[in-house]
Amino acid sequence: MHVGPVTIDYDVLVAGLRGDTGFTSQEFVEAMSFSLKYLRKLMGADETYQPFIIPGGGTSAMESVASLLRRGDKVLVVSNGVFGDRWKAIFNRYSVAVDVLKCDPGDYVKPDDVEKAVKDEKYTLVAMTHVETSTGVREPVEAVAKRIRDKVELIAVDGVSSVGAEAVKAKDNQIDVYLTASQKAIGVPPGAGLLVLSERAVSRLSDESVAGYYLNLKNWVDVMRNLEDGKASYFATLPVQLIFMLAKAFELMDKEGLENRIKRHERVAQGVRAGLESMGLEIVAKRPETYSNTVTGVMVKKANPSEVLKAVLSEGLELAPGVHPALAGKYFRIGHMGWVTPNDVMTTIAVLERVLKRMGEPVNLGEGVRAVQLTYS
Ligand SMILES: Cc1ncc(COP(=O)(O)O)c(C=O)c1O
Repeated sequence: MHVGPVTIDYDVLVAGLRGDTGFTSQEFVEAMSFSLKYLRKLMGADETYQPFIIPGGGTSAMESVASLLRRGDKVLVVSNGVFGDRWKAIFNRYSVAVDVLKCDPGDYVKPDDVEKAVKDEKYTLVAMTHVETSTGVREPVEAVAKRIRDKVELIAVDGVSSVGAEAVKAKDNQIDVYLTASQKAIGVPPGAGLLVLSERAVSRLSDESVAGYYLNLKNWVDVMRNLEDGKASYFATLPVQLIFMLAKAFELMDKEGLENRIKRHERVAQGVRAGLESMGLEIVAKRPETYSNTVTGVMVKKANPSEVLKAVLSEGLELAPGVHPALAGKYFRIGHMGWVTPNDVMTTIAVLERVLKRMGEPVNLGEGVRAVQLTYS
């Protein structure tokens, strides 16, 4: 129950066990073609969107967004925490101006505030984070996009902790860039950044962009088009074995059905929160309307979070540390994405209850497990 890399399905892992395939092999080209097509579906995009699968992960996909910017452009970052701040850190490396809207930890930036900011200033790009992994807070990106769509040129959403687990509708919400990484809710090992670009975003790819070389999407766009059309193509080496795993994960997702997959995540998240709240623990996300399907931050009063992580690990449960600097030493995180089930929730809450009790944290022993049982009965 980590926030990523998540536990990998056995069939997905096995799909990568190939020692004899290069980037020109027919099997690889077919896996890329299928995965690029499926990526559109996953992002709620249509044929007008260009899908990309590039080496790296969430950060490489984020940095590739600089391909759409030119010297002097203004960017507004909507930041709910560490990964929102990463947008700022990335754009600060380029000759563009960056403004940031922030909130208290556990809270979120309101659509009203974003709307006001884009009325007061002309921005080329607004960059948001769908689910802020450092706090588990979900930003209402649809509501924000509606308010600002006609006032900015481009809208980019980091969906690293949402794609594959939350409703993602790039086309309906006219979002120009939706991105994710392989190791999160998609349930594949780390190694690839995945994104889709709207036609408007693709039209911004040019030699005037501030981007460098490797993550400049202008260098990748023809490769993606060729591979989707079934033609081998090269700009830089793609993680070949990982792409076979990705194609397998997409095949399994298609079998489960995207809506069912999102519902499963919703159900799993409900069980986690019911268990924690009944145990008497406080959740980092302050507002229920922003609870995410994928990450829950858990505040502790007495127990030391890093000791909690060690203790649960010795009982076979891997959780993640709290990474928001303002809440350092006060919380840990539960990741509930990928191939998770209600049974995983039951084990998680049961282990946490007894470990926290042993560490002197005031918890209602047995109440968390009971709440999970009631959620799923
Ligand atoms: C919301 C979000 N964005 C970006 C990233 C960065 O992704 P990566 O570590 O794959 O570069 C992460 C990583 O956890 C994330 O959770």
